[in-house]
Amino acid sequence: MKTKVIEQSTGAGPVIGVFDSGFGGLTVLKALLHRIPNASFVFLGDTARLPYGSKSQRTIARYASESAQFLVHEQKAEYLVIACNTASALALDAIKDSVPVPVLGVIEPGAAAAAASSQSRDVMVIATEATVASHAYAAACRAQGLRGVEKACPLLVPLVEEGWTDHPVTAEVVRIYLDELLAEARTAGQSPDTLVLGCTHYPLLRAMFERTVPEGVRVIDSAEATAEEAARQLQAHPLLAQAAGVPSIRCFATDSVEKFERLGSRFLGLPVGKVELVDLGG
Ligand code: DGL
Repeated sequence: MKTKVIEQSTGAGPVIGVFDSGFGGLTVLKALLHRIPNASFVFLGDTARLPYGSKSQRTIARYASESAQFLVHEQKAEYLVIACNTASALALDAIKDSVPVPVLGVIEPGAAAAAASSQSRDVMVIATEATVASHAYAAACRAQGLRGVEKACPLLVPLVEEGWTDHPVTAEVVRIYLDELLAEARTAGQSPDTLVLGCTHYPLLRAMFERTVPEGVRVIDSAEATAEEAARQLQAHPLLAQAAGVPSIRCFATDSVEKFERLGSRFLGLPVGKVELVDLGG
């Protein structure tokens, strides 16, 4: 797909704001670009306050709401995708209360994709500590008629941030986490056939997970399922029908702009272009 990476939104299609605590959410933007090619995307990575996954609900809700307000009030986003699993799990209601536009999180689309994949109705979810402690995935899976076991994998975000996506240390960490999770599922009398990657960074390790899971276990990426749901919700948007051409992307970060520019293309699968610095306070 031809994608124009530019610094200013063109105004060709609807403005879709995509938010993450860092640049891992670019995996969700990548999936959105394929499904909604006529939109103008504004991405914000709250890199100054990353990681969210080890913080309290109150702090995550404040950071995420401030970020959503920046995208809606200053960048004129008319639809928001919360690409961050942790913010979706702990702050979706707070974000919805803070902005006057539709907001889509990643948890429910991820659970729906797990339900579509699972024959045994038993699934495994891996995510950050805060996401697992919220049990948001467990609740969303239950609502889909699934049983599940969840596991926090706090070492994986720093390993991906380090660029160690195909490194023997990461492979060993993945193997240990999966062994523990499978043992937990067995103890609970479950036979999982689906693994949900419940964190923005984990799709970068998808191939490694696919190599490590037992035969017959499918790996589900909430980024794809979320993009599909956003495309479904936006299909009737009048600007989408009119707009022709290619999407535009404008990226903001609250810190570490150079690192975002350097590593962001790995998450997006395209050059991210020039990333602009924004100060949302402490
Ligand atoms: N974006 C977070 C998530 O998807 C991972 C990074 C963080 O802990 O902030 O849960």
